[in-house]
Amino acid sequence: MKKVLAGMRPTGPLHLGNYFGALKNFVEMQNSTDYDTTFFIADWHALTTNYEDPQDIKGNVREVLLDYLACGISTEKSRVFIQSHNPYHAELFLILSMVTPITWLERTPSYKELRENIANKDLSNYGFLGYPVLQTADIVLYDADLVPIGVDQAPHLEISREIVRRFNHLYNTDVLKEPQAMLSESSKLLGTDGRKMSKSYGNVIMLKQDINQVKKMLKTMKTDESRQRRTDAGNPDICPVYDYHKLFSTDAELAECATGCRSASIGCIDCKNILIPHIVAFLEGIQSKRKVLEAEISDPYEFLAPHSTTSTEQAGRRVDSVRRAMGI
Ligand code: TRP
Ligand code: SF4
Repeated sequence: MKKVLAGMRPTGPLHLGNYFGALKNFVEMQNSTDYDTTFFIADWHALTTNYEDPQDIKGNVREVLLDYLACGISTEKSRVFIQSHNPYHAELFLILSMVTPITWLERTPSYKELRENIANKDLSNYGFLGYPVLQTADIVLYDADLVPIGVDQAPHLEISREIVRRFNHLYNTDVLKEPQAMLSESSKLLGTDGRKMSKSYGNVIMLKQDINQVKKMLKTMKTDESRQRRTDAGNPDICPVYDYHKLFSTDAELAECATGCRSASIGCIDCKNILIPHIVAFLEGIQSKRKVLEAEISDPYEFLAPHSTTSTEQAGRRVDSVRRAMGI
């Protein structure tokens, strides 16, 4: 069985883009006999950018946990834990930071981009620069073979591979396993305003989103702009609504909407009325499970504590072998 490890930074409730870009795939791997799966919530990684407001992190860990479980991640079939429960992440982070050249970190595209673009936060902190080193510790502690990530995360994984090679070379060992990226197409879904999905634009449909709100967002959602009037023909290939259709509707419905759009025999409202019930049914399924979990889980740290023992033990053995390799 290939060992798969995936983590998410707890920045808030998950949305349809997170589901189709990551979570759906996590659940499929968990339920396949080809993979041994570990899923964790990277609260220390959230701290690298939110160290000024750590009070939001716990609530966000809970949101992510509820979404994980409501979508089918199971603490019985997968190892599920919270990063900060396991101090070995911090210890290996420290050790790996010794062998990581600063230039590798400064070159990371996400580092440069966020430092330039996030004006309201001071990201000149040391921990943020070291983000990929902590991520490397997360991965190699569990001997992960495969790390499912979006393309935007690929440079981080490349650094992890380099750090592993450097460590193994320096100490003439093979204790650390070089992980492989399992790239998922970044989800093609756009926000309901036709722009890139972003919580700060308010254009995302969260898995926990109120159903009436969902209907409203979809009814007013941007379509192919060339369809100004009902009689104007459109092109589903460039319509953000049609990308949602592709994930939710049947082949027959897809054909009906595409043909109807190109010939203007149906309007955008008709087209959306085919889509909306599918999305609503999908979300209602998740939300009814989420309701039950919400009542059960008030403190995510308490809830996951008993599940973190096996991963902590496993990580402890890996750190022991690292210490032995270094002779300290
Ligand atoms: N950087 C990842 C993200 O932003 C989260 C993460 C932290 C992660 N450690 C990881 C992902 C280890 C995979 C493996 O989503
Ligand atoms: Fe988009 Fe459907 Fe309108 Fe065509 S008919 S532009 S696919 S919403």
